[in-house]
Amino acid sequence: MKSKQAVNEHYYVRQPKSKPRLGLIRTHLRGGLFEFLTSSSVFSKRRVDLGTRLLIESMVLPEKGKVLDLGCGYGPVGVVAAVVNPELHVVMVDVNQRAVRLARENAKRSRTGNVEVRRGFLYEPVEGMEFDAVLCNPPVSAGMKTVTSIVTNAPRHLRENGSFQIVVRTKIGGKRLSAELGKVFGNVEVLSKGSGYRVLLSKKS
Ligand SMILES: C[S@@+](CC[C@H](N)C(=O)[O-])C[C@H]1O[C@@H](n2cnc3c(N)ncnc32)[C@H](O)[C@@H]1O
Repeated sequence: MKSKQAVNEHYYVRQPKSKPRLGLIRTHLRGGLFEFLTSSSVFSKRRVDLGTRLLIESMVLPEKGKVLDLGCGYGPVGVVAAVVNPELHVVMVDVNQRAVRLARENAKRSRTGNVEVRRGFLYEPVEGMEFDAVLCNPPVSAGMKTVTSIVTNAPRHLRENGSFQIVVRTKIGGKRLSAELGKVFGNVEVLSKGSGYRVLLSKKS
């Protein structure tokens, strides 16, 4: 019998306790075929989330340098970035131990040699590092406080001209997040829209 905790376990817990039920997603992204191992208690086990897909298809990748995928889950954003541009060094971070293991496995499966996965809370695992782009599909279920903290702390982790790219549900926090980006960076543009989501981009000047 499933325990109540296992049934209700959030995808953003540090140490999932439920027995992992694995899944496999095979899909085309940015013109290439990708295969991702997924699991219960990790965000979007059955398919690439629509917001994730929009972020991946529209993200603007630097020609070289470092990219951070914050809240990487099983790793679709960071792995695709690393495959699309092997010149990049991609760091992926997640608080969820199971997500971190899957992201490492998926990076290996995609034969990327330019990926590193770190476990920890928000920017803690990359303290002192600066990136050319920070990409994020934020954990809205963990609360707007967490999402706001991701935005307000982003400039400290960006080089000059570095970009912050975040996907948001238009009707859930879209306006608020756009206003927050405008306040923090002094600029914000809508990079893409679709399926009820939008990708916002701000630049550090
Ligand atoms: C909406 S999911 C996106 C996952 C993945 N990027 C994707 O698009 O499929 C947000 C991710 O943020 C992670 N997360 C939640 N709170 C976090 C925190 N405080 N620090 C780091 N990661 C966190 C969750 O575990 C989850 O994997």
